Amino acid sequence: MRFALRVQRDRLRADAMTERERIQTPYLTAEDELDRSLRPRRLAEFVGQHALCDQLSVAIDAARARGEALDHVLLAGPPGLGKTSLAQIVAAELEVPFVQTAGPALERKGDVAAFLTALEPRSVFFVDEIHRLPRALEETLYPAMEDRRMPITVGQGAGARVLTLDLPPFSLIGATTRAGLLTTPLRDRFGIQARLEAYPPQDLATIVERAAGILGIRLEDAGAVTIAARSRGTPRVANRLLKRVRDYAEVRMGGVVGQRAAEEALEFLEVDARGLDRLDREILRVICATFDGGPVGLSTLAVAVGEEQETIEDVYEPYLLREGLIKRTPRGREATPAAFAHLGLPAPQRGGQSAAAALF
Ligand SMILES: Nc1ncnc2c1ncn2[C@@H]1O[C@H](COP(=O)(O)OP(=O)(O)OP(=O)(O)O)[C@@H](O)[C@H]1O
Ligand SMILES: [Mg+2]
Repeated sequence: MRFALRVQRDRLRADAMTERERIQTPYLTAEDELDRSLRPRRLAEFVGQHALCDQLSVAIDAARARGEALDHVLLAGPPGLGKTSLAQIVAAELEVPFVQTAGPALERKGDVAAFLTALEPRSVFFVDEIHRLPRALEETLYPAMEDRRMPITVGQGAGARVLTLDLPPFSLIGATTRAGLLTTPLRDRFGIQARLEAYPPQDLATIVERAAGILGIRLEDAGAVTIAARSRGTPRVANRLLKRVRDYAEVRMGGVVGQRAAEEALEFLEVDARGLDRLDREILRVICATFDGGPVGLSTLAVAVGEEQETIEDVYEPYLLREGLIKRTPRGREATPAAFAHLGLPAPQRGGQSAAAALF
């Protein structure tokens, strides 16, 4: 009984922390509402990532047929690519409850025990930002994931005893923007490991068309293509831009989002033809102009542009790297000639030798 009460209290605490996290997370605003309303609900609605979807579909069908819990799944990839959506879809396809928490909300072993002991069999237990789970709690997860066991210590000092809780079968789905920060033992316990990749423009066009349908936006094909091309491979960005472009089209262009409306609106929003926004360009400008092309350390860069280090690393840098505008070197970030060209600046002559001279 005492234990049940403690579990209850811990669960309440875990819920409260999730709420606190929710309140403290800077992105969870109107954008979060938009995410929720546009989130695909079934695998068939999830656009792109075909290899991953096929793999999940087979695993889901097999688990359902056997009446077992799905293998644990790790979803890695930059923000806004659909990790949370996919985790919810997996639960919906399995027709099992979806229980959600986040790495930073779990502080003590009791927090994890409270969640796991209360799960209905075969539930999906979603741990967002799993790379931010405290190390000690990772170790708690090992036996839970492997043998559905959770040893806990009851009492203190000489009277302390170790009790082993039996857990219901469950599927842990971990999401992370930083797979590299997970320890190998934790990573190895996920039977299905997937990395979500940036979406090609045609997938993003399909995603904005779907969103336009849900939001009742009059979107022409060319408008969808224009928005897709500037969405940096990210569905969340595509949906956000669509919404902002709609505002512009309604106020200035009679409400239809065609190519011209999309182009004008995106220019107005300072999103350039390559999909870079004001902060992307500021990062490039600081590396190119202030630091002569770099290398410049991440912390210095963060201070110079007035943004958090983690945001630069998770949100901005992956796209700039992928576009070949910056390079990561052991001494810091460097701008490539393409970055100078994009900003209309002359590229510096490295080491007193021009690229042409280096050929001879
Ligand atoms: N494959 C997709 N098809 C359709 N819409 C998608 C897809 N992927 C993402 N979206 C849209 O993008 C939004 C953001 O996706 P989601 O919240 O799942 O990303 P995430 O990877 O969990 O991001 P974060 O790392 O910030 O938590 C969703 O609300 C959904 O509207
Ligand atoms: Mg998410």
